[in-house]
Amino acid sequence: MIFDNHNRPITYLRLAVTDRCNLRCFYCMPEEGIKYLPKAQLLTYEEMERLVRVLAQLGVSKIRITGGEPFVRNGLMGFLEKLAHTDGITDWHITTNGVLTAPQVPDLVRLGVGSVNLSLDTMDRERFRQITRRDELPAVQHTLDALLAHNVPVKLNAVVMEGKNIADIPLLAELTREHPIEVRFIEEMPFNGEGSHYPVLNWTHRRILDELRTLYPDIAKLPDPANSTSYTYQVPGHAGTIGIIAAFSRTFCGTCNRIRLTAQGTLKTCLYDSGVLDIRALLRSGATDDELKAAFLKAFAHRPKNGFEAEQHRSPVTESMSTIGG
Ligand code: GTP
Ligand code: 5AD
Ligand code: SF4
Repeated sequence: MIFDNHNRPITYLRLAVTDRCNLRCFYCMPEEGIKYLPKAQLLTYEEMERLVRVLAQLGVSKIRITGGEPFVRNGLMGFLEKLAHTDGITDWHITTNGVLTAPQVPDLVRLGVGSVNLSLDTMDRERFRQITRRDELPAVQHTLDALLAHNVPVKLNAVVMEGKNIADIPLLAELTREHPIEVRFIEEMPFNGEGSHYPVLNWTHRRILDELRTLYPDIAKLPDPANSTSYTYQVPGHAGTIGIIAAFSRTFCGTCNRIRLTAQGTLKTCLYDSGVLDIRALLRSGATDDELKAAFLKAFAHRPKNGFEAEQHRSPVTESMSTIGG
């Protein structure tokens, strides 16, 4: 296993397979979308396979496929087939918006997907249309049904937004009554691709918890899994659990085991850095596996200790969550 310069093991890769998305969530992108990368600038699946193999040899064992929306890239299932059979990769997962996912669920199960994180901010069709600027709630619900029918572990991600989906907190939390899923309420982060400021975070994790306590006075705290981004709760008697992700107000840096690769092959060793290594250029210059490993190791030896804190003192991020991969 490889440890970084602050003695944190690097075991988890978040791999963005595309920067494209078929939704336009207002907290992630402007209405007209972001300027997408030309195809030649994206890592090919072959390049990704090679990088995953090399990183697995360095000790990465968990992979989360992100985007953009992973399923908008052609050929994803073929890539996942290879990923699933890579030595050293013990578990792999996907974060998806669920618009195109339902028909792939049986194959995801066949390939051994560990879990699916499904982005779903509202159960109401009109609110869904307002938040995502697309009328796709039925397709996403279909995906949720398919995942449940196939017993795939699901974390349902809902960003909590003043004036947009507060009425959904009870509706989403109620899903845990019957279904063994984790519904996670997320603080909104300033990554909407426009660099606009969020002077006040209306819905902090504390306020979300207060709201849940009002709805469920006996809601109980559960232990959090290691390296989890969320605080875990459960309403006694419910099949599922409720998570709160303090994405904006809490630092996860102390135990951060994550690295990120953007769709164009930029390595980020912290959510808040703007990329520390152009791995695509290295690959395309003919680097050997050993040279790739050396470049990764050098980057891991220079990870910021607390990117979150540094971020608090900087100007607003202009990147979209869709290019960062979350
Ligand atoms: P797992 O722990 O593998 O389930 O992943 P996750 O829950 O972190 O991933 P997911 O893609 O579902 O993202 C959930 C939310 O956490 C999103 O809003 C992410 O942007 C946010 N998030 C993911 N990683 C980090 C991080 O390193 N720091 C912060 N502040 N937020 C993060
Ligand atoms: N703040 C918090 N979470 C966000 N996501 C996308 N943009 C933001 C934001 N600005 C979430 C999506 C998805 C996950 C990968 O990141 O809802 O579930
Ligand atoms: Fe697409 Fe996810 Fe961004 Fe929404 S938050 S536009 S689903 S990448």
